[in-house]
Amino acid sequence: MILVTGGAGFIGANFVIDWLMQSDEALINLDKLTYAGNRENLASLANDPRHIFVHGDIGDRELTNRLLEQYQPRAIINFAAESHVDRSIHGPEDFIQTNIVGTFHLLETVRAYWNGLADEARQGFRFLQVSTDEVYGSLASDEPAFSETHRYEPNSPYSASKAAGDHLVRAYHHTYGLPVLTTNCSNNYGPYHFPEKLIPLIIVNALAGKSLPVYGDGQQIRDWLYVKDHCSAIRRVLEAGRPGETYNIGGWNEKPNLDIVHTVCALLDELRPRADGKPYREQISYVTDRPGHDRRYAIDARKIERELGWKPAETFDTGIRKTVQWYLENQDWVRHVQSGAYRDWVEKNYGGRQP
Ligand code: NAD
Ligand code: DAU
Repeated sequence: MILVTGGAGFIGANFVIDWLMQSDEALINLDKLTYAGNRENLASLANDPRHIFVHGDIGDRELTNRLLEQYQPRAIINFAAESHVDRSIHGPEDFIQTNIVGTFHLLETVRAYWNGLADEARQGFRFLQVSTDEVYGSLASDEPAFSETHRYEPNSPYSASKAAGDHLVRAYHHTYGLPVLTTNCSNNYGPYHFPEKLIPLIIVNALAGKSLPVYGDGQQIRDWLYVKDHCSAIRRVLEAGRPGETYNIGGWNEKPNLDIVHTVCALLDELRPRADGKPYREQISYVTDRPGHDRRYAIDARKIERELGWKPAETFDTGIRKTVQWYLENQDWVRHVQSGAYRDWVEKNYGGRQP
């Protein structure tokens, strides 16, 4: 049994679905169901007894303690977070609460639980912190990609809160010996990505005939990884990573934002042409830049490849095509997210019963 937090969000839901496709080991999924948590992402698991969904907060010690005592998980993977940089600029408080205070409370409960385990279970136990490349700050165009030893230099309230959470995780290993693993991944894209983030926003706005907002000059660089590859890397780190170590995860896919927008537009031109025959890129609109906008991220993923033999399965070309196709085939999901109906999904489908 493992415990996953934040498993109704974008990456967490992909992880939970993939985990249960590849393993018979059951999983508790603890999620607060913030605006980013969507039970509809987990619809395919509705009748799967191996998936135990619990609605709750990682900061609720009484709850997490009860779950640990009841289910005795051998590992915890902490995806739960506030994740959107723009929201952290408008209102940082939730980021501090979940990404720092919530992580602290979770660590405290886990420490007590781990201390009470028998020797063999104590040794085999793992706490995996899912983190981001944004904690390393911004790179100049001629600087080498982030390695695991790059200093933490977070620039947004989001990345500062993730950095603080990571430091606590590190300290619990150093001070108390808790067997932790940390992964720092680059930008993900793929199914179930909430359409506030660049790639899904461009897809849904393009199809709705709305403008495609490009911040500043659109030349900021991100390093893109298909979400299923992130999930396989996390599984590999959980299986074979060395406690106390951090692993960078990336796809060697650095691209300026404007190229990403052009690629998505070109795929839509091919797969779902505009009724008037004009190209979607005509909808691009340059808007005011994000304050403190990091110019470039790039991940050096050689350590995880060398030590754990992990490599991404998708190229950007294959991953982005799958992603655009997924959004075209899942217009109901998009509509429910846009209308807010996804928040009532459980009520509608189960009449209030917890599936
Ligand atoms: P997301 O915003 O889509 O999902 C976050 C999930 O966490 C939601 O289901 C939400 O309901 C849940 N949650 C939030 N606060 C909670 C709390 N206090 N207790 C329990 N659950 C809570 O985020 P995502 O994009 O899936 O990111 C998941 C993790 O991966 C985050 O830790 C993020 O920092 C990290 N990460 C994301 C990316 C990316 O490109 N999206 C890249 C690298 C790392
Ligand atoms: O690098 C990993 C990080 O990637 C994760 O830790 C974060 O949780 C995740 O949200 C993501 O952060 P970014 O800020 O890079 O992602 P976002 O999709 O918000 O933006 C990607 C780039 O596109 C960024 O340079 C800002 C720009 N952008 C974004 C939006 C939403 C635009 O130009 N227009 C937009 O409308």
